[in-house]
Amino acid sequence: MRDWRPFYAEEAGVYDARRYRSRHGRHFQRLHHVALARALGAAATRDRVLDVATGTGHALPVLTTLFGSVFALDLTAEMLRVAATNNPGPTLCVGSAFALPFADATFDAVTSTRFLHLFDDTARVRILRELARVARPRAPVVVDYYNASARRLLAPAVWVYRRLARKRPEHDAFLTLDAARAECAEAGLVVEDVRGVGSLLLGPVARASDRVVDAFARPFDRAARVLCEQFVVQARRA
Ligand SMILES: C[S@@+](CC[C@H](N)C(=O)[O-])C[C@H]1O[C@@H](n2cnc3c(N)ncnc32)[C@H](O)[C@@H]1O
Repeated sequence: MRDWRPFYAEEAGVYDARRYRSRHGRHFQRLHHVALARALGAAATRDRVLDVATGTGHALPVLTTLFGSVFALDLTAEMLRVAATNNPGPTLCVGSAFALPFADATFDAVTSTRFLHLFDDTARVRILRELARVARPRAPVVVDYYNASARRLLAPAVWVYRRLARKRPEHDAFLTLDAARAECAEAGLVVEDVRGVGSLLLGPVARASDRVVDAFARPFDRAARVLCEQFVVQARRA
């Protein structure tokens, strides 16, 4: 299994600019935050939340609004240093998602965004089991997946875009919604809801205002989530 620390140690200084500062990236981040907030609405209590593989803290603005105490863990200290600058407040810890340094049933919700795609099937199930272990019974466990169905449909457009933008070769795991449900079940999680987030189809309207983009994106949220780049899964311990 790949050790991602050297890659993200080098990437830390440019991570936000590459992912979240373009027009498309900014809209994606906002829509992702909306999906996360909705999924976390399922939390019966809002005391303690954990964000695993927090990186530069993409999810933390949502978590700090909704929960009393926010814990954020990542393997790469350089990424956490950026997270601390971006979001003062949460308790940050260096650690691995494969062996979370927390007791069973500690958190009222557990999140992990844009992380599972880095690993193969076996590793992803191990991570999901760890997330489930530290979540209280019935607490939401919220993760996301790169969408294999959308990728298949949009493959030619993605190929052209990646060539023109000189993107690095991808090694990411893409899953269908059914495959994601199956691996959550294998890890002892029941999927309660799924929401699509972002789409290459946002590209043509990326220069428009937030309101226009929201109106354009809304139909993709549920009904057409097959076309979304990613989907957010809201699950709980079985
Ligand atoms: C693509 S970034 C996602 C960051 C953030 N969650 C987001 O949505 O932008 C992946 C993150 O996973 C972290 N990471 C990689 N392997 C890890 C592991 N075994 N345990 C915890 N974090 C890990 C990396 O350091 C990096 O910050």
